[in-house]
Amino acid sequence: MAILDIITYPDPLLLKPSETVTDVNDEIQTLIEDMAETMFDAPGSGLAAVQVGVNKRIIVVNTTGNLENEEKSWYALINPEIVEKDGVYVSEEEGCLSVPEFRATVKRASRVVVKALDRKGEPVTMELNGFHAVILQHEIDHLNGILFIDHLSVLKRNLYKTKVKKQMKKSA
Ligand code: NI
Repeated sequence: MAILDIITYPDPLLLKPSETVTDVNDEIQTLIEDMAETMFDAPGSGLAAVQVGVNKRIIVVNTTGNLENEEKSWYALINPEIVEKDGVYVSEEEGCLSVPEFRATVKRASRVVVKALDRKGEPVTMELNGFHAVILQHEIDHLNGILFIDHLSVLKRNLYKTKVKKQMKKSA
């Protein structure tokens, strides 16, 4: 297993839709293991393959609770697709490993049904609610080239973009 580099905004790869996985092979298994390790190292609630520079429709989700010394738990989904969504959930302080040092409130669906392949390539259907539904919506957005800042008003999004531009100028 290896910890991979996480790419950040404004890397253009983050805006590119990821490709469907057609063969769940050993290479994909290694990638999934590395993505999980990278997510726990960061740490984050979820991670999409595109965030480690791989343009494939794969996500990993952290399901570890808040208890100290709790064993790490997680799952991976390949080619996930939201087939049903309803309700409203206001996701407060949503953040993203690829959008560092910025958090915002995002309006999400409160319930989603997701169809995908599990890491062995077997079809699965999952129903998620609340915070867990938010993670799935956020990660599946990544596979479609969408960042959580794309859900904000133009004004709020531009505040972040201006901040990043200033930081880039400073470090240039
Ligand atoms: Ni993210």
